[in-house]
Amino acid sequence: MENVTMEKIVNLCKQYGFVYPGSEIYDGFANTWDFGPLGVELKNNIKKAWWQRFVQEDINTYGIDAAILMNPKVWEASGHIESFGDPKMDCKKCKQRFRADSLIEEFSKGTVAAEGMSDEELEKYISDNHIVCPNCKGFDWTKIRKFNPMFKTSRGTLENDADTVYLRPETCQGEYVNFLNVQRSLRAKLPFAIAQIGKSFRNEITPGNFLFRTIEFEQMELQKFCHEKDSMNFYEDYKKRALEFVKDLGLASDKLRYHDHDKLAHYAKAACDIQYKFPIGWEELNGIHHRGTWDLSRHSEYSGKKMEYQDPETNEKFIPNVIEYSIGADRLALAILCQSYEEEALEDGTTREVMHFHPYIAPYKAAILPLVKKFHSEKAKEVCLELAKIFMVTYDETGSIGKRYRRQDVAGTPYCITIDDETINNGTVTVRDRDTMKQVTLKIEEVPSYIKDKMKI
Ligand code: GAP
Repeated sequence: MENVTMEKIVNLCKQYGFVYPGSEIYDGFANTWDFGPLGVELKNNIKKAWWQRFVQEDINTYGIDAAILMNPKVWEASGHIESFGDPKMDCKKCKQRFRADSLIEEFSKGTVAAEGMSDEELEKYISDNHIVCPNCKGFDWTKIRKFNPMFKTSRGTLENDADTVYLRPETCQGEYVNFLNVQRSLRAKLPFAIAQIGKSFRNEITPGNFLFRTIEFEQMELQKFCHEKDSMNFYEDYKKRALEFVKDLGLASDKLRYHDHDKLAHYAKAACDIQYKFPIGWEELNGIHHRGTWDLSRHSEYSGKKMEYQDPETNEKFIPNVIEYSIGADRLALAILCQSYEEEALEDGTTREVMHFHPYIAPYKAAILPLVKKFHSEKAKEVCLELAKIFMVTYDETGSIGKRYRRQDVAGTPYCITIDDETINNGTVTVRDRDTMKQVTLKIEEVPSYIKDKMKI
C-alpha cells in the first residue's frame, strides 16, 4: 500500500500475531523479533516457495543444511576475521556510531555507491562534502575503524582464544566447504548449484527498521558452480530469476529495481542488488554476485584440499567460478507485509484492513466459520479437521460473521468457508474471496482443489 509507515506495520504485526518484540516482558532486547503464529507460517511459506523454485524445480541444484558453528579457519579463508567489518566512525560530540558508507549514501541520496570505496576515499568524501552527524549535526568525526560484526563464543569449558568459535555471519560458507562432498556424493556435473536456508548472525552497528536489519536473521542462499565461459550467462539468468521470484510472491514491479554495483570487490566480476521500495525508501532486498574463483581458491589454500573439478569429457581440471544469489527471508517477509497491507475504503463508507498475500504464502489458506455456533459448529469442526490435513486452516466461531470476515482479512486469509444449514442438508459451503469479497457455492469435496489451484506460483 502507498504511504504505509513502518510504525504501522510494526504495530499491526504485534496486534495480529505476526511478529512480537523479542524478550518483551523484560523490556525487550533491541533488534530481536519473535515470529508469532501468523508470522511463522508466513515466513515458512516464503522459505518453502524459495526452495520449491530454486531447488525442487531446478534439478541441477542440491540442498544442504550445514552447521552454524564452523571450524574458525573457515572465517580466515573467507576473509571475515581479517577484513569483514563495516567502516565505522564515531561522532566525537554526541558519541553516536555510524557506518561511513551509509552516511555517504544517505547524503548523496543513493547516487554515490560508497560500498566499494576504500577507507581513505570514504573519509575524504565525508570531509570534502562536510557531512555532519545525523544525530547532533556536529562535524567532528573519528578516523574510520573496522568493527568486526561476527558474534564470538567459545567451545569447551575454558574460555581462551584457542577455543573461540563464531556464529556464522552468512550461510554460503557451508556451501563452499561442501562443494567436493556434494559433487562426489551426488556425482554432480558442472554446472550445478548448492543451496541452503538458515540462520546468520551479525553484530550490526546500525541495526533497525524492524525486520530490515537485525542481529539474527535467516538467509536463503545458493551458489552456482560453473565454468568461467558460462559464468556471465548464469549471472544474468539469476538476476532475472530473482526478480521474477519476488514478483510472483506479490511484490509490485514499480517497487522493484536493479542496482548494479559500480565498485566491485577485487575478486568480483559483477554484482547487482535488487532493491525494493520499503517505507524507509529504496533498499537492498537481495544480492546476485559473480564471485569468480575467489571462494573455492581461498578454501583450497587454507584447507590444503584441491577444490577443483575435472570435466569428464575434456579432462580439463579447473576451479569453478561461482555465481551467488542471496536473499534474507526476514527482509523478504517485511517487503511482503508492506506490499500486502491495504486500508480499503468500502462502498458502504466503512474501511477494512486487509493483507493481500498471495494464497501460497498466506499464513492460513482458509478460515472455517460456522454461521450459527449452536447449529453449525459440529459440522464446521469436522470440515476444519479434514481440510487441516491438506493445508493450514483456522477456525473461528466468535462474534458476528462480518467481524469474523474482518479478522481474516487482516490475517490475509484468502478464503472464508461458511458452514450453514445447506452444508448439513446438501453438503455445500459458501467460499468468500478475501480480495473481491464475492462468494461462490461449492460442494465440500471441491474445496481442496479450488484452493490448491489458486495457491500455484
Ligand atoms: N553471502 C553473501 C551475503 O551474505 P549480504 O548482502 O551481506 O551478502 C545477503 O546479505 C542478504 O541477506 C541481503 O540482501 C539481505 O536480504 C539479508 N541480510 C543481510 N544482513 C541482514 C540483516 N542484518 N538483517 C536482515 N537481513 C539481512
